[in-house]
Amino acid sequence: MEETRIIGFADAEEVHVPSLPKGSALLDGKFRIDRQIGSGGFGITYLAKDIYLERAVVIKECFPEAFCFRFGNEVRVGSPKHEVQYRKSVDMFMREARSIAKMRHPNIVTVHQVFEENETAYMVLDLIDGRDLADIIESEDTELKPDQVHEILVKVLDAVDLVHRNDLLHRDISPDNILLDKWGSPALIDFGAAREDASQKGNAVSTMLIVKDGYSPHEFYISGAKQGPCSDLYALGASIFHLISGEAPPDSQRRVAKLTNNDADPLQPLQGRFPQYEPAFLEAIDTAMRVPPKDRIQSAKAWLALIEQDRKKVNVVKIPEPKNISKTLSELIEETNKHVFDAPLVKQEVAPKPAPASKAQSFKPEWAEEFNRETLEAAQQQREEKRAAAVAARLAEFAPNKEVETSARERPDGPQSRPPKKGTFRRDKG
Ligand SMILES: Nc1ncnc2c1ncn2[C@@H]1O[C@H](COP(=O)(O)OP(=O)(O)O)[C@@H](O)[C@H]1O
Ligand SMILES: [Mg+2]
Repeated sequence: MEETRIIGFADAEEVHVPSLPKGSALLDGKFRIDRQIGSGGFGITYLAKDIYLERAVVIKECFPEAFCFRFGNEVRVGSPKHEVQYRKSVDMFMREARSIAKMRHPNIVTVHQVFEENETAYMVLDLIDGRDLADIIESEDTELKPDQVHEILVKVLDAVDLVHRNDLLHRDISPDNILLDKWGSPALIDFGAAREDASQKGNAVSTMLIVKDGYSPHEFYISGAKQGPCSDLYALGASIFHLISGEAPPDSQRRVAKLTNNDADPLQPLQGRFPQYEPAFLEAIDTAMRVPPKDRIQSAKAWLALIEQDRKKVNVVKIPEPKNISKTLSELIEETNKHVFDAPLVKQEVAPKPAPASKAQSFKPEWAEEFNRETLEAAQQQREEKRAAAVAARLAEFAPNKEVETSARERPDGPQSRPPKKGTFRRDKG
């Protein structure tokens, strides 16, 4: 995976980043450094422990390596001429932490704390227990399914939309800055390059050029070039392109050079190459990665509308039922009732009627009336059972393998315990 570079600084020579040693205490012993897990041009990332809450956290230390060095645990400015830039970096680091803290979003890493110490600044982040997309792309044991890729993109777009609505640009979206937690939900991390106010559109927005080959759009390589939301969307498109195709996209400067020479674009579009994805989904990624910024998708919302609209089109297609079962059922019951009630009652075997009794003989024992009533009820019940058996037989004939449901109200367990229909698409909205 390409590293984030600061053009003109870090690429000149390999810089060894001296990190805080294991066991270093921060904020009066509230946090203890465990080990370094990353280092970019601006900072060092550590795994650490929150001593009071007894849980693991991630701590980022502001360490703009081009301007500083470590002295003990402290960070010192390398040369007096870098003093202003170093202070600016620490201020921006604090501002960045506050900006992330403001953006409460399930797919943006949560900042718990920011503080100054050791002549620099630190931010404490939620530890996301999972893997970054770069790791997933590189590993052979995990392959994400189209539905998962779709869900990751939708969630990250929603997060990016919030970043842009806060007048920020992330400026370093790439597979290694998107973490997937153990439930497969993505989180956008590393706002280290999000140093500029997107509301200053059209101005020379950056004094430092921060790039990651393959993911950065060409305007990130040109000092003073206009950067906007579509610059982040290019980088997000490139990250998802890598996830789908397994290949990092060619770097945008090469694309510009080829196109300027009227040569073919070295980027092979996704559309038409991956039939397991919806064509509109792939087309949107290709559009987000167009070289001229004006030809790209201009906002995260517009991108979401393109792919969600496509999903809805698929969702509304109803699979026709083989027969209208409720109508057929009532017809069957009516027909069977008619058949049973119109039929003559089966003659009961009855004892021969006794001859009319004389007055003296007309004695009626107490149980006789009860006996007569029971006999009548038994005949009635027999008729009911026969009707039910006839209905059941007709139903079995109509749908032999189908468990016919009565209305939800009649079900003993009520409508809410009905099992989900197979094939129903369910997606948690992020
Ligand atoms: N909140 C976090 N939870 C888990 N891992 C993290 C977290 N933040 C960063 N990491 C890991 O540390 C790496 C470096 O962190 P990052 O913030 O991207 O800094 P940089 O790229 O500048 O070194 C990430 O690629 C990721 O693997
Ligand atoms: Mg990073």
